[in-house]
Amino acid sequence: MDQVEEIKQKTDIVALVGQYVSLKKAGRHHKGLCPFHGEKTPSFMVNEELGLYKCFGCGAGGDAIKFLMEIEGIDFVEAIKQLAEKAGVKLEMKKMEASDGKKDLLEVLDLASRYYHYLLTEHEEGKAALAYLKERSINDKLIEKFNLGFSLPSWDGLIKYLVKKKGYKEELLERAGLVNKRNTGSGYYDKFRGRVMFPIQDPSGKVVGFSGRILPSLASSEDAKYMNSPETELYHKGKSLYGFYQAKQFIREKKQVVVVEGMLDLISSYGAGVGESVAVGGTALTSDQVDMLARLSDKIILAMDADEAGTSAIKRSVEVAENRSMNIKVVQIVGGKDPDEIARKSPNTWKEMVDKAVSIYEYVLCKSLEKYPEGNEDRIRNVAADVIPFLAKIDQEMIRDKWVKRLAESLEIEKESVVSEIRKVRSGIKSDLGIKKEVTAKRNDSVNQWLSMLIDWLMLADEKLVREISTWFRDIDITGAEGKLLSWLFQNKGGESPEDIVKKVPSELKALAEDIVMKSELAETPNVKDVEKLAAKVLREVIENKIKDLEHLIELAEKAKQNDEAEKLYEEVVRLNKKNSEIAVILA
Ligand code: CTP
Ligand code: MN
Repeated sequence: MDQVEEIKQKTDIVALVGQYVSLKKAGRHHKGLCPFHGEKTPSFMVNEELGLYKCFGCGAGGDAIKFLMEIEGIDFVEAIKQLAEKAGVKLEMKKMEASDGKKDLLEVLDLASRYYHYLLTEHEEGKAALAYLKERSINDKLIEKFNLGFSLPSWDGLIKYLVKKKGYKEELLERAGLVNKRNTGSGYYDKFRGRVMFPIQDPSGKVVGFSGRILPSLASSEDAKYMNSPETELYHKGKSLYGFYQAKQFIREKKQVVVVEGMLDLISSYGAGVGESVAVGGTALTSDQVDMLARLSDKIILAMDADEAGTSAIKRSVEVAENRSMNIKVVQIVGGKDPDEIARKSPNTWKEMVDKAVSIYEYVLCKSLEKYPEGNEDRIRNVAADVIPFLAKIDQEMIRDKWVKRLAESLEIEKESVVSEIRKVRSGIKSDLGIKKEVTAKRNDSVNQWLSMLIDWLMLADEKLVREISTWFRDIDITGAEGKLLSWLFQNKGGESPEDIVKKVPSELKALAEDIVMKSELAETPNVKDVEKLAAKVLREVIENKIKDLEHLIELAEKAKQNDEAEKLYEEVVRLNKKNSEIAVILA
C-alpha cells in the first residue's frame, strides 16, 4: 500500500480534528462548529469511517491531510510528515530523507535567532536598538511575538558564538545564509551587522531566514536600509510570507488576509489588532504566495504603500491573485505613507481603513483619475487604457455594468462607447454565457437537492425497497451527476452501509457520494412510506422539469417549421404527463 494511504488509514480523523474543534457525536458523524468560517450553529461534519470532514456552511472539506494543511497553513509534504509521525509510520520517500539534511540548517538558524534576540532584549549592546524599536512603538509583547533581535556591529559576533563557542562549521553557517566568504582568500564574516533582526519563519514557525534593518545611528551611507537572507535550501523569498505563522489563525477566523509591504508595516498592523496581516517584503505577490493564502481564505486585501512602487505592486499582485479567482480588495492608504505610519499614529484609524477597503475596480479607477486629472490632454484615452482591461475581466454582467457606468460618468462620455470597448477586449477572453443557461441551472439546483436527499435515504433503505423504487424510474432518464449516481445505486445497492457504498462508487461520482453521506442526518433506516413519498416527489419534480424543457423545444421547433420534430416532442410530453398522474396515485 502506498504510504499516503497507510498514513490516512492510521490517522483517527475524529481525534485529529478534535484537537481544534470540539466535536459531538451526531448520528453516524461527529459534528461541531466549523473552524474555517465563523458560525454559531454547527454545520461541520466529521466521519470516522470515511476519514473525511465537510462543512455545509462554507464548503470546506476533505481528508485528514487536507484538514491539517488548511488548519495549519502548511503544504502537503509537511502535513504528511506530521501525520506520519503521529501515526508511527516511517516515511521512505527519497525526497523526505534528503530533507533531513536540513536539520542542521534549521538548528543553526534557530540558535542564531535566539542569539540575536538575547542581544536585543538582555544585552548592553542592544540598548540602542531596543530604544529605536520603542520609539517606533514596538512594545515587548510584539518583540517576543516576532522574536525580534539585534546583530552586533562587528564582523564576527555570530561566528564567535556559533563556531567558536558552539562548534558549528562555518560552511554550515554559509549554507544557512548567515555569513559570507571573505573576498581575500580564507575565512568568513557575519552577513548581518548592526541591524534590527526580523527572523523569517516558515508556516510551522521554524526560522528559515532573516531580514535586517540597519539601525539609523549605526548606518553609513553605503549601507542598504534592509538586508535579506540569500536564497538557500530553506529560504525562498517568493515562497515565503513574513508573519504568516503568526497570522494564520486570524486569517482563518476572519476569512481574509491583509497583505502589506514591509516587516514593520506588518508588526504595526498586527499590533493595531489586524492580526490577519502578512508582508511580502517590498515586492508583488507571487503565485506561490497566493497559493499559501488561498488555503486559508479567498479574500485578499492589498495594503501596499501609497507610492508608485506600491501601486505597481498592487497591479501585479492582482493579476496573480485573479488567476486563482480570489476576491481582491485594496486599502486606500491616506494620512500617511504606509500602514506602519498610520497604525502607529492611531490603531483604530488603521483598523477602519482596512474595513473600508474598496474593490479593486474602484481602486484602479480612482488611481487613474488622480493620475490624469481633468484638463489632462489625453485623459479619456489614458484612463480608459488603465481601467478597461480590468473591467473586461468581470464575468458577472450586472457588476460589470455598474463599473462601466461609473467609468462613463467619471469621464463624461456615453456608456455605449465603454461597452463597445469592453466587448472588443472580452471577445478575446470568452463569450457570454447567456441567461437561459442560468435559469435552467437554478431549476436543476432544486431538483438536485431532492435527488441528493433521495440518494441519501436509499443508501440506508432496505435492498428490496430500492429495487421496487428503481422500477418507477425505469423509463425516465435523469441527467447530471445526481442522476448518474441514482441509476448506479439502483443497480448496485446491496445490504452494505452507506460508508461501504461510497467506497465502491465509480471515481467520477465519488465526490458527490461522499458529500451526500457527510451531509446525512439520518441515524437509522428511514420508514418505507417516507421513502416512497420522497421518491414520488423527486420523480414528479424531474418529470415536470422535463416537460418545461420539452415545451421550450417544441416552441423552437414550431418557429423553425419543423413540424415532425415538434410532433415527436409532443408525444413525449403526453407520455410524461401520463406518468405524472400515475405518481399522483402513489402520493395520495
Ligand atoms: N526592502 C528591501 N530592501 C531595501 C528596501 C526595502 O528588501 N533596500 C523591503 C523590505 O522588506 C521592507 C519593504 O521592502 O520592509 C518596504 O520598504 P520601505 O517602504 O522602504 O521600508 P519601510 O517598511 O517603510 O521601512 P522603514 O519604515 O523602516 O523605513
Ligand atoms: Mn514602507
